[in-house]
Amino acid sequence: MESADLVAQLTKVRKIYYKPDGSVMVEALRGIDLDVRRGEYVAIMGASGSGKSTLMNILGCLDQPTDGDYFLDNKPVGKMSDEDLSAFRGRTVGFIFQAFNLIAQLTVVENAEVPLFYQHVPPAERRERAMHSLELVGMADRAGHRPRELSGGQQQRAAIARALVTNPVILMADEPTGNLDSKTGEAILSLFEKLHSEGMTILMITHDDEVSERCERIVRLRDGLIERDEVLRSRAKVPVQAEA
Ligand SMILES: Nc1ncnc2c1ncn2[C@@H]1O[C@H](COP(=O)(O)OP(=O)(O)OP(=O)(O)O)[C@@H](O)[C@H]1O
Ligand SMILES: [Mg+2]
Repeated sequence: MESADLVAQLTKVRKIYYKPDGSVMVEALRGIDLDVRRGEYVAIMGASGSGKSTLMNILGCLDQPTDGDYFLDNKPVGKMSDEDLSAFRGRTVGFIFQAFNLIAQLTVVENAEVPLFYQHVPPAERRERAMHSLELVGMADRAGHRPRELSGGQQQRAAIARALVTNPVILMADEPTGNLDSKTGEAILSLFEKLHSEGMTILMITHDDEVSERCERIVRLRDGLIERDEVLRSRAKVPVQAEA
């Protein structure tokens, strides 16, 4: 496969957490090989402690592997300095968390602007892009509200707007429907499906079979290794390569 088609490419990735005295506390990832294609919609599953969040932290450049190689958007993440890595993460990855993680003192639109603030985008452009992002998730009419004035599903949509505001290459979500009732969770999954149909690459950790079955592919972890990697379906709109 052309590497240009790959958004993320992990080779023999290991992650060891050490105790303060330098001894091994736990080998959370024990040799992960994983390719994620542009536009894929992938569920990451596995028992508690199997390494899902550790894997997502590495995929999202929040943490570096102890060993192995990682390319994100064709850039060798392992060779970046901390400063370069955090700038690269800011423009490449959008994060969505189970607990939404909105800032309580800021309005919805101000929350959606936060990633652009870190990119030193000027205020007027920040506001315009944040409003556009809120429109994508159907939250523009709540732009001036504070998080506590919103339902859980609305807070998660605001958090998704914040994740989208930088035009990321990949969206990473750790149990995004975990704090929501099933009807509200359904609205979030429909939104992911819309984003996916528009070409967004999405990786989602979930414990829920009903959620993972709506993805295109399920990667199952067990004790820090990939136990099973199953393609359920491919996107209908796979571009057909013309014969040369
Ligand atoms: N910062 C850390 N320091 C030490 N050990 C850690 C750290 N983070 C995770 N671990 C350990 O690494 C292993 C994998 O943890 P991880 O959080 O990736 O699991 P998970 O699959 O996300 O679990 P859950 O479903 O409970 O969220 C576990 O044994 C955990 O205790
Ligand atoms: Mg976890």
